[in-house]
Amino acid sequence: MQTAVDLHPAWLGEAHMPVMLPPSTPYEAAQRELGAFFAGRAGRTALRLEPGMGEAYAIQPEADGYVITGGESGVLYGAFALIRALRAGSPLPEGRQAPAYALRMLNCWDNMNGTVERGYAGRSLWFEDNAFCYDPARINALGRMLASVGVNVLCLNNVNVAEPAQELIGDLLPQLADFAALLRPWAVRLMVSIDFSMPVRDGLDTADPLDPRVAAWWRERASRVYEAIPDLAGFLVKADSEHRPGPHTYGRTHAEGANMLADALRPHGGALVWRAFVYNCKQDWRDTATDRPCAAYDLYRPLDGAFAENVILQVKYGPYDFQVREPVSPLLLGMPRTALSLELQLAQEYTGHQIDIFAMPPMWREVLDTVGPQRIRAIAAVSNLGRDANWTGHPFAQLNLYAFGCFAWDPQADPETVTRAWIRLTYPVFSAAQEDTLARLLMRSREVYERYTAPLGLCWMVRPETHYGPSPYGYEFQAWGTYNRADRNAVGIDRTANGTGYVLQYPEALRSLYEQPETCPDELLLFFHRLPYGWRMRDGRTLIQRIYDDHFDGCAQAEAMQAELETLPFPGRDSQVIRERMALQVMNAREWRDVVNTFFFRFSGAPDANGRVIYP
Ligand code: GCU
Repeated sequence: MQTAVDLHPAWLGEAHMPVMLPPSTPYEAAQRELGAFFAGRAGRTALRLEPGMGEAYAIQPEADGYVITGGESGVLYGAFALIRALRAGSPLPEGRQAPAYALRMLNCWDNMNGTVERGYAGRSLWFEDNAFCYDPARINALGRMLASVGVNVLCLNNVNVAEPAQELIGDLLPQLADFAALLRPWAVRLMVSIDFSMPVRDGLDTADPLDPRVAAWWRERASRVYEAIPDLAGFLVKADSEHRPGPHTYGRTHAEGANMLADALRPHGGALVWRAFVYNCKQDWRDTATDRPCAAYDLYRPLDGAFAENVILQVKYGPYDFQVREPVSPLLLGMPRTALSLELQLAQEYTGHQIDIFAMPPMWREVLDTVGPQRIRAIAAVSNLGRDANWTGHPFAQLNLYAFGCFAWDPQADPETVTRAWIRLTYPVFSAAQEDTLARLLMRSREVYERYTAPLGLCWMVRPETHYGPSPYGYEFQAWGTYNRADRNAVGIDRTANGTGYVLQYPEALRSLYEQPETCPDELLLFFHRLPYGWRMRDGRTLIQRIYDDHFDGCAQAEAMQAELETLPFPGRDSQVIRERMALQVMNAREWRDVVNTFFFRFSGAPDANGRVIYP
């Protein structure tokens, strides 16, 4: 493992590291970045501040350098864009550049006891022992890292608000304000996850959103918070979900709950981000009528148009929960009168724990192409950061953070272009052929992981709780609504009009695509359909043979990745971590292959057509 902490994400390089005293404004930060980069190089840059441009910038090449014109934070984004382009040898962005979304947020699931829910890169960077606890230099470096890819909001605490995090908007406000001040020069604003029942904690006998005392309590609280942190981005709320309190306790709708909070924030310009991750988490597995993916649409669709103007409804990309492959959430397609935020997850909860390689940009491209970037107003991602020396545990997991920034700025971004730029910035010593090798490996890493884990959109074959490693029946009799219903004849859930009806939540074009197994894309086949093992796939193979083949292929591809990585000259700081984690990934892939193949062999009794080993 590494010993020294890398104060900078590898994509910013080490050669041109500016002195790490915190800057006082984004303008000063921009000047400093450019000064450090151009020191000893030909060319010079001039910054032109045009406050009206806000986050936007333009880079104008001149005979002897560049002029960057931009707003308060735009100049900083422009400086980083110029440095990135020059270091990666990418074309300079032409003309005025502005982000597609005003809210580009990282959601940190950090608990005040120092743990990070679903964190795979060590403990919290800013909490320990139920208090703030951080190295200011590292938080300054964090701000720099986020600004360098345009992330402008950091929600610092877990959506599952646990003691004493409620006090972030109470007794801990002074410390919260100090923390906000460290990120401000990097144009990163804070958001706080709040507890809907907070007024009760403070002595009221109710948190009913329609009770005037409750509304008054929140108005007063919001004023106090904004006095301490005038540029706070707003509040994030997980309500009525997985045992969290919410308006349903009082017989109120989510619009009533969200709007009451939004009213309190409105005078201060704050946003109220309300998560749409709500379902029955106490389901009986015997109940086949309740289908978890239907839940969010059933609840929120009738509320379309009922949310206040500063409410943003934050929707996970799929209807389940960050699985390796899900169809996009129908809610993202069915709420035209509501401001929506797309929620992604950089933390590799179901996607390999930052041990197995899983580059996300190709998956985001699919999601954004299906949803249409113009349908959403904001974008958020669950953070993959922690106190590990390299920030993300696996050095390649930095790609997902870097790419998130790029996609949040420009949702039309091309996954391969972004990935290659990241490789050139992170591993500048690589030859073109080595860049090709790593780019190809990263671009197919999700498909490889998918093949050796969950077949054909089935989901939830992971070990319960940890969500790493195989356990095909681990979630089968649980209360979370997570079933594959495999038996000796068939597997999958019928979600067509004749089944749970989930498919009816989609607009016509997708509905008709998914409705028939003959047209449903292979990778989602068992998400939408229950099929016998002898089902003929479009390529002529049986379903069971396809499951076996995917698992053998996926594992063989993981082994091939291991050999390819051996050919690449990773710097000392990365090579050992990459090698160690790749060995673990290969072990994991073998385990998945054998467990899932045996699971289906025991049910189906079907031998592998190619005579490979399946343990009886
Ligand atoms: C998943 C995850 C939880 C998290 C939840 C959420 O279910 O396993 O740890 O709290 O998502 O998004 O709120």
